[in-house]
Amino acid sequence: MKNCVYPGSFDPITNGHIDVIKRSSGLFDKTIVAVLNNERKESFFSVSERVGFIRKATEGIPGVEVDTYDGLLADYMQKRGTHFVLRGLRAISDFEYEFQMAAVNSALYPDMETVFLMPSLQYSYLSSSIVREVGRYGGSLAGMLPECIIEEISERLKIK
Ligand code: PNS
Repeated sequence: MKNCVYPGSFDPITNGHIDVIKRSSGLFDKTIVAVLNNERKESFFSVSERVGFIRKATEGIPGVEVDTYDGLLADYMQKRGTHFVLRGLRAISDFEYEFQMAAVNSALYPDMETVFLMPSLQYSYLSSSIVREVGRYGGSLAGMLPECIIEEISERLKIK
């Protein structure tokens, strides 16, 4: 059985992430979407909110499991007995950070293989921080987030 871990902050999950998860579902038997639970890394949504959004948004995509981890990704991967880590690459600007992360991870866990998937071009501009920025000022998040979580997230983001 081929499993992979798709790690991230997912603050919140976007249609770009969903696109990557759908592609992964066609490649791997199981995709573990793993939310980093790190008190020192500031996030807008709590871990349980983020996990809830991901669960809702990935319902119906075969082979998806949602989990959380803290500490090093390399340690979590070994604990889960998984060799493949999945990352989305949107643009050249993502490359430097991803290259560094893949190199550190493979130094820490030589059996770890980073698999990069390119989301559809229509999501190349999309990020969780863009979603938070647009939502904060009450802009429409249509097309940026899965329909089933738009209302809840829009309400939480709006400056009251
Ligand atoms: O997409 P993101 O939100 O930038 O995800 C980054 C994430 C959470 C995958 C990465 O920062 C991580 O796994 N951190 C855990 C600590 C770790 O393993 N650091 C070494 C690799 S940079």
